[in-house]
Amino acid sequence: MRVFVTGASGFIGQAVVKELIGAGHHVTGLARSDKAAQKLARLGAKAHAGSLHEPDTLRAGAAAADGVIHLAFIHGPGDIPLGRRLGLILGGSPFAIVGRFGAAITAADRRAIDALAGALEGSGRPLVTVFGTMGMAGGRTATEDEEPDPRSPGWMRSQTEAAVKAWAGRGVRATIVRLAPSVHGDGDHGLVPRFIAAARKHKSSGYVGDGENRWSAVHRLDAAVMLRLALEEGRAGARYHGVAEDGVPFRQIAEVIGRRLNLPAVGITPGEAARRFSWLAPFAAYDNPASSRLTQERLGWRPTHPGLLADLDRETYFRA
Ligand SMILES: NC(=O)c1ccc[n+]([C@@H]2O[C@H](COP(=O)([O-])OP(=O)(O)OC[C@H]3O[C@@H](n4cnc5c(N)ncnc54)[C@H](OP(=O)(O)O)[C@@H]3O)[C@@H](O)[C@H]2O)c1
Repeated sequence: MRVFVTGASGFIGQAVVKELIGAGHHVTGLARSDKAAQKLARLGAKAHAGSLHEPDTLRAGAAAADGVIHLAFIHGPGDIPLGRRLGLILGGSPFAIVGRFGAAITAADRRAIDALAGALEGSGRPLVTVFGTMGMAGGRTATEDEEPDPRSPGWMRSQTEAAVKAWAGRGVRATIVRLAPSVHGDGDHGLVPRFIAAARKHKSSGYVGDGENRWSAVHRLDAAVMLRLALEEGRAGARYHGVAEDGVPFRQIAEVIGRRLNLPAVGITPGEAARRFSWLAPFAAYDNPASSRLTQERLGWRPTHPGLLADLDRETYFRA
């Protein structure tokens, strides 16, 4: 299959590119810089120059492919063009500014999905995109058949699921992969490394309350296999869980971080968590177990790589 991958130069994207090429597919990745294009060339993929803010470029990339995996996401202001960024910053309280950024990021993602899916309309070709289990109800194990929950910390991105549902009804084999909040492995620069940085800064490794709240997790190489299987075999409108471990107590994550840094692991209040972790505080406190039982049954996926605590307990996560 000729596969167009956005976010192909990222942490998960590079693993996906390797996985696809290893399985005999031909990959073209979206690249917004020469550096990204060089990464793709090293992996044996072609580069398609453009950014998430250029719908025509996205459409052309998808139109030339037999299937699309959409991983690119605007994770911060730096991913938004300068002119548009200035418009978002000017005027209003810090809360208003954060709200405007959130709205701009999700709107850009929706435009990108619409451009990619529009090129596939009526063709039955696959489009795989991602959401997070952090968008699901807390306090119980989330399953593939449930809808996202408006009270969850990851709700902001739930329009991705709405977009997938809409395009699945228009002749696109659109599927969603809900990834665990920790996709871990070499090169991880996601949420767990931010807690490591916070522990260094505050001289202790914090968990909220008793730290019994659980996070699901998946190794990025297992996630890459899952994303390939969703592309090859996913059913239109299906939701899959990129989850290898249902629920790792957050306190155990904090304890590994503390031990590795020679710092105490301490229970902190929600107020202290807000000071230490800023926008990450609601995620740190969220009880977010998730199951992939149905995904494993439906796609024949079997995660085989190390779990989060074993993977985290290595020097590579703690190089200064
Ligand atoms: N990592 C996790 O633990 C985790 C957990 C749950 C969900 N996810 C989701 O999984 C997806 C992949 O995550 P990741 O960890 O691989 O992210 P990442 O390493 O930060 O990579 C992001 C990718 O998106 C590209 N990108 C960002 N803004 C862009 C723009 N304006 N135009 C074109 N490309 C742009 C980046 O290109 P450059 O190389 O040029 O920067 C990079 O290829 C994301 O949707 C993320 O939210 C990740």
